[in-house]
Amino acid sequence: MTQKEDKYTLLLEQVRALLAGEPDRIARMANLSALLHLEMGFWWTGFYRVCGEELVLGPFQGPVACYRIKKGRGVCGTAWGEKRTVVVPDVDAFPGHIACSSESRSEIVVPMWNEGNIVAVLDIDSRELAHFDEIDRQFLEKMVAYI
Ligand code: SME
Repeated sequence: MTQKEDKYTLLLEQVRALLAGEPDRIARMANLSALLHLEMGFWWTGFYRVCGEELVLGPFQGPVACYRIKKGRGVCGTAWGEKRTVVVPDVDAFPGHIACSSESRSEIVVPMWNEGNIVAVLDIDSRELAHFDEIDRQFLEKMVAYI
């Protein structure tokens, strides 16, 4: 196992324990973003919730961010529209990337499902190029499934 896999494996157990027993989804999103942000040292970690035809800013950690993103726009709206995790190694090379922070260099967006619908996306930004890979995708999808 790589060092990153080790770290995520430990964190996954922490996440499971942290989220168990709290019925409010927004509260669980808030604590998951805090734990991930602190433990993994990301630049921006948080959720956008599906509200009608838009994504609206939810619980997050990091610099202030844009409030609303339309379906198909930016990395978040693409992940929502295409119903899949999107990994962007270089945000400057992603057409339509929405730059909430000029410091962000790479990004991953993971859809969160509930009863067959996407109800939110987990968005994580890094200040390093190509920070996110298949390992991040696998573990973050598992964590989001706990919510
Ligand atoms: N970069 C995102 C917007 C949200 S911020 O990164 C927090 C996007 O292109 O959808």
